[in-house]
Amino acid sequence: MSDPSHTPAADILAALRWHADIGCDEAISDEPTDWTTFAARPAVARAPMAPPPGGGAARPGATPAATPRAASYAPAPAASQPLGASEAGASARARAKEARTLEELESALRAFDGCPLKATAMNTVFADGNPDARVMLIGEAPGEDEDRQGKPFVGVSGKLLDRMLAQIGLDRTNVYISNILPWRPPGNRSPTQAEIAACLPFLERHVELIGPKVLVPLGGTSAKTLLNRAEGITRLRGQWFDYSSPGLPGSVPVIPMLHPAYLLRNPIAKREAWRDLLALKQKILNI
Ligand code: URA
Repeated sequence: MSDPSHTPAADILAALRWHADIGCDEAISDEPTDWTTFAARPAVARAPMAPPPGGGAARPGATPAATPRAASYAPAPAASQPLGASEAGASARARAKEARTLEELESALRAFDGCPLKATAMNTVFADGNPDARVMLIGEAPGEDEDRQGKPFVGVSGKLLDRMLAQIGLDRTNVYISNILPWRPPGNRSPTQAEIAACLPFLERHVELIGPKVLVPLGGTSAKTLLNRAEGITRLRGQWFDYSSPGLPGSVPVIPMLHPAYLLRNPIAKREAWRDLLALKQKILNI
């Protein structure tokens, strides 16, 4: 006798649940793709990267950076092999190094195929705020709202971040915001070390082009990555560190802070966040 729970509808529901469980919870294109036949299709031609710059100004113009790309994203052609971790890092370093302006860096990042997260994200989330700001905040990775809108920190944790900054007289006209990763990890899972390593050269060049007077990593992933430390954020937060990079004139003071998403889950920790904000305010007054 056949199992009454084994109906086509039950199968479809089970398949949907399975997709949601593994983080496939986003439509990334208006048109469905039949992945069972995708490999047999001819490869999609990709736009070549812009030619290397002919030497322009090192300091970019004051154009806020986030420009959402077209609604649908063509995944990498099946024929192309994904880059290995060290190959991806080397390619990212070479491309990032060539960028002389923020615009060139954003184009290079958008043309970079060394991080598989790009294939599942709707948008490349580059940055928001004022490129001439003295304070640069760096989060972890875009969430769902950021992925949709193509801008960092526009969802609930972004709203909290805006309120926190307002307490010390800051807003997006006098801070600059980016993330360790420009693409949303499916289902908001934590980024892997390989994903971070593939994208880090772009962020390092990003910091060089902005040349901030203070860096603020938000959350453990950002703090550990930027400072190359193993301790968690509860150890690192509220302390001053130095960040150096060959393209910066000197070291930049860094104060890691708790991530706003963590504060939403642990409101009691707002006490510490308030202390760190006051320390940041004090530093800004003295630079
Ligand atoms: N969390 C982050 O770390 N970055 C964002 O842009 C949004 C949420």
